[in-house]
Amino acid sequence: MKGILLAGGEGTRLHPMTRVVSKQLLPVYDKPLVYYPLTTLMLAGVRDILIITRPRDAAAFAALLGDGSAWGLSLTYAVQPAPRGIAEALVLGRTFLAGGPSALVLGDNLFFGAGLGRNLGLVAARNPGATVFAYPVRDPSRYGVIALDAAGRPASLEEKPAQPRSSLAIPGLYFYDAQAPDLAAALAPSPRGELEISDVNRAYLDRGRLVVVPLGRGATWLDVGTPEALAQASAYVQTLQERQGLMIGSPEEVAYRLGLIDAEALARLAAPLAHNAYGRYLRDLLATP
Ligand code: TTP
Repeated sequence: MKGILLAGGEGTRLHPMTRVVSKQLLPVYDKPLVYYPLTTLMLAGVRDILIITRPRDAAAFAALLGDGSAWGLSLTYAVQPAPRGIAEALVLGRTFLAGGPSALVLGDNLFFGAGLGRNLGLVAARNPGATVFAYPVRDPSRYGVIALDAAGRPASLEEKPAQPRSSLAIPGLYFYDAQAPDLAAALAPSPRGELEISDVNRAYLDRGRLVVVPLGRGATWLDVGTPEALAQASAYVQTLQERQGLMIGSPEEVAYRLGLIDAEALARLAAPLAHNAYGRYLRDLLATP
C-alpha cells in the first residue's frame, strides 16, 4: 500500500507563526511536526510515500526529508497550488497511486498508542473499501463526525456539523481501496470551495463500503491546528519522552526498529547529532538489545 502525506494548507489559525514557515515544519517539542504522521505511516507498513506541500514550502520539505532512502523509504513530492481541500490529495496523487490502495495522513495529525500504527495498518489491510477511525472528542463540530447505529455500523457522516449527532470525530488517517481517486475527482467543491474528504468517505458509506474502527482511551489523537494545540502536543511529547526515556515520532528509530535500516546506517544518522539529546538517544539505541 502506498501513502500520501498531505502537508499543505494555509495554517491561518497559526498565523503569524506560519506566515513564512509551513505548519508541518513547526517544532512539536524536539522534532518537526511532520515526523509524527510520517512515522505513523511507517508503522502502518507504508514505505512508498508522496508528500504534498504548498509550492512555497516544497524545497524546505525536500531538504528536511530527502528521498527517504536514509530511512529505508521512498519519498516523492507533489505540490498543491492552492488549499482546495483534503480530498484533492487523492486527485493529485492519482498517478503516484497507479490504481492501487492508499493510506492518506494529514501532516498536522499526531497519533500515539501501544501498537497503534501496526494495528491500524492491519485493520485497514483486512477491509475492502475504506477504513476510517472514530475518536471521541469534546468539540466534534470542528471535524467530520460519524454516528454509529446500535450494531456499531456507520449511520451518518457530516462535515463540521453545528449540531453533531455524536461525539465521534474522524481523525486524519484514512485507508482507501483503488476507487478513491475516482471518487475524489468526481466531487464538486463544497460551499467553502474545498474537495471534502468527508464527501469521499460518505461515497463509501453510501455504497456500504465504509468500515469505522473506534479508537478508545488507549489511543492518542491530536491535531495541531491552533497555538493551544501546538503547545499541548509539545507538552504531551515532552512528558511521555522524559518519563519513559523513549521517543515518539523519530523516523530514524522507527526505521531501525522495523529493520528498514541496519545498525551501521543508524550510527551514521546519529553521528552528526551526537552533541544533542536526539543524537545521543539514537546512539544509545545501538547499545540497547
Ligand atoms: P486544516 O487544519 O483544516 O487547514 P489549514 O492547515 O490550512 O489550517 P487553517 O484552518 O488554520 O487555515 O488542514 C488539515 C490538514 O490538511 C493540514 O495538515 C493542512 C492539510 N491541508 C492541505 O494540505 N490542503 C488543503 O487544501 C487543506 C484544506 C488542508
